[in-house]
Amino acid sequence: MHSRLICFNSSCRREYAITDVLYNCPKCGGLLEARYDFGKPHAGAWKAAWRERRMSNAPLCQSGVWRYRELFPFVDDDRHIVTLREGNTPLLDGPRAAEYGGLARLTFKHQGFNPTGSFKDNGMTGGVAQARRLGMKRVACVSTGNTSASMAAYASAGGLEPLIFIPHGNISYGKLAQALEYGARTFQVEANFDQILALVRALAERLGIYLLNSINPFRIEGQKSIVIEMMDQRDWSAPDWIVLPGGNLGNTSAFGKGLREMSELGLIERLPRLAVVQAEGASPFYEYMRAHGRTPFRAQEHPETLATAIKIGDPVSWPKAQFEIETTDGVVERVSEQEIADAKAVIGQCGIGCEPASAATLAGIRKLTAAGVIARDADVVAVLTGNVLKDPDYIYRYHTGQLKAPDDTPIRSTFGNQPIVVPNDAERITQLIG
Ligand code: F0G
Repeated sequence: MHSRLICFNSSCRREYAITDVLYNCPKCGGLLEARYDFGKPHAGAWKAAWRERRMSNAPLCQSGVWRYRELFPFVDDDRHIVTLREGNTPLLDGPRAAEYGGLARLTFKHQGFNPTGSFKDNGMTGGVAQARRLGMKRVACVSTGNTSASMAAYASAGGLEPLIFIPHGNISYGKLAQALEYGARTFQVEANFDQILALVRALAERLGIYLLNSINPFRIEGQKSIVIEMMDQRDWSAPDWIVLPGGNLGNTSAFGKGLREMSELGLIERLPRLAVVQAEGASPFYEYMRAHGRTPFRAQEHPETLATAIKIGDPVSWPKAQFEIETTDGVVERVSEQEIADAKAVIGQCGIGCEPASAATLAGIRKLTAAGVIARDADVVAVLTGNVLKDPDYIYRYHTGQLKAPDDTPIRSTFGNQPIVVPNDAERITQLIG
């Protein structure tokens, strides 16, 4: 099966070897993607083989990424693969969240069940496999926290040296703690995500370090598996909508590519529509898409949101994301800090929980159903991208009425749940419980 890299820019389309260390097209600067000649489709046989693998004890079959290895055949030797049994994340019903979101029914695909607690693991196993195949020794990423936690784990597990660059003071402690614990050399840079990405791209070139941000096409390949597994879990019946948060827009790009490929290979009969939700204070893609391409893409210089995972003003993958939104007849929405905080608490009340960026999905659904864009009886899957414990500080502040937006506006704890301090006194506690 012939694998290669191809420039995503439709006016270029230049091709490169799958083993070239490239993040952008050397000719036009466009984004790159992996492309395969899949040959004759084997939809039925593949579906059967993927089901069969769920019963196997072989590590690659237990991985919710590599179980579907036929769909990302860039790896030439399985020994390059590092798996922590990523993927295998559940579809969960959230009736209370459905009601809040204006839907009859809502399903969450919870990527927070991954080994390091976020969807980044699906992509990182792909990127690290390619790093090892290329014989790289050092890998690096810039991160709002989850990519770094994931890269630290996979690089260390695979014998590579992880170097992490994060915006100083702007990632949650849960994520920083993971990077330290998994043994990454961690640089807290006094700049924002977008500025650090520019810095690290120059450093990577100078020092020969392999970059594992989502600009790396093999990260995107791995993240395709999120929608592939989702369809497998739904017996290959596509929902009407898939809703996800948008930051650097790597996931939007990966979902779109995965859906297109599944449709071309006859694995699904129709494309779901993608709905991407951004935080109001970090919504350059929303602004761009709202203008229908009449104005050029404009980065936001000072993005602000408490959902630090998506605090990104200059998302690198916007051209891919635009294509995928247009191909799936999708939409882009944005939501306020208050809307994110309340939606997050409602997801918590379902017994599910997630980190702030993930809750942008439910907040977005509520707006999109109110506007009549998503129908009340639509079949909707919202992707929760990170685990509830990624940002406990945010949770405590919300429930105790201490959460403030970046501009210092207090966030109302609409669904607040204050812990109660009590004396060591059975009578008094009995009275309080009632
Ligand atoms: N949700 C969470 C929990 C994230 O960590 C991220 C991105 C996103 C959503 C947005 O995904 O960038 O593909 O649009 N986090 C990156 C990081 C940027 O460094 O961990 P995207």
